[in-house]
Amino acid sequence: MIAKMIFSASLLVIGLSNSVHADSGITLYEEHCASCHGGEEMGPDRVAPPVFAVKGHYLNHYEDKESFVKAIVAWVKKPEINRAHMPGAIRRFDLMPAIDISQEQSAKIAEFIYDGQFQRPGWYAEHYRQEHGEDPK
Ligand code: HEC
Repeated sequence: MIAKMIFSASLLVIGLSNSVHADSGITLYEEHCASCHGGEEMGPDRVAPPVFAVKGHYLNHYEDKESFVKAIVAWVKKPEINRAHMPGAIRRFDLMPAIDISQEQSAKIAEFIYDGQFQRPGWYAEHYRQEHGEDPK
C-alpha cells in the first residue's frame, strides 16, 4: 500500500478510499490511461490532456456519477469526434485511440476518476483561459 502510494505520487491522488489491488480503479488507470493522461508533472511535452482536465470537462456535462461513468465507458470503447467534449484537445493531440479493455474495467477506471482528487497542474489555469476565455472552475 505504501509503495503503491509512492508509485502513484505523481498523480497526487488524495483521499483514496478503495483498496489497491490488481483490478482496482487506480491500478487499471495506471495500466491503461496514465501513460497519456498522467498527472501533475505533465508539462508542455504532454501527449494528452491531464486527467484533472478530462474530469473537469466531463463534470461540466455529467454531474452525477452514473452518467459520468457511462460517458467515459462509451468514450474509451470508441472515441468519436462528434461525441467529444474536448475538441481543442483533439485539434492539438489528435483523437484518442480506442482502449481495448472490458466495460467493467473502464467503469472501474471512470469511478476512480470521479471519486479521486487530482491536483491542477501549475500551467492549467492560464491554458484554460486561453482555450475558453474564462477562469477554470
Ligand atoms: C495513447 C494515449 C492515450 C491513452 C492510453 C488514453 N488516452 Fe484518453 N485521450 C488521449 C488524447 C490524445 C485525448 C484528447 C483528444 C480527444 O479528446 O480525443 C484524450 C481524451 C480523453 C477523454 C476526453 C474525450 C473527449 O474529448 O470528450 C477522456 C474521457 C479520456 N481520454 C479517457 C481516457 C481513459 C479513461 C483512458 C484509459 C482507459 C485513456 N483515456 C487512455 C490519449 C489517450
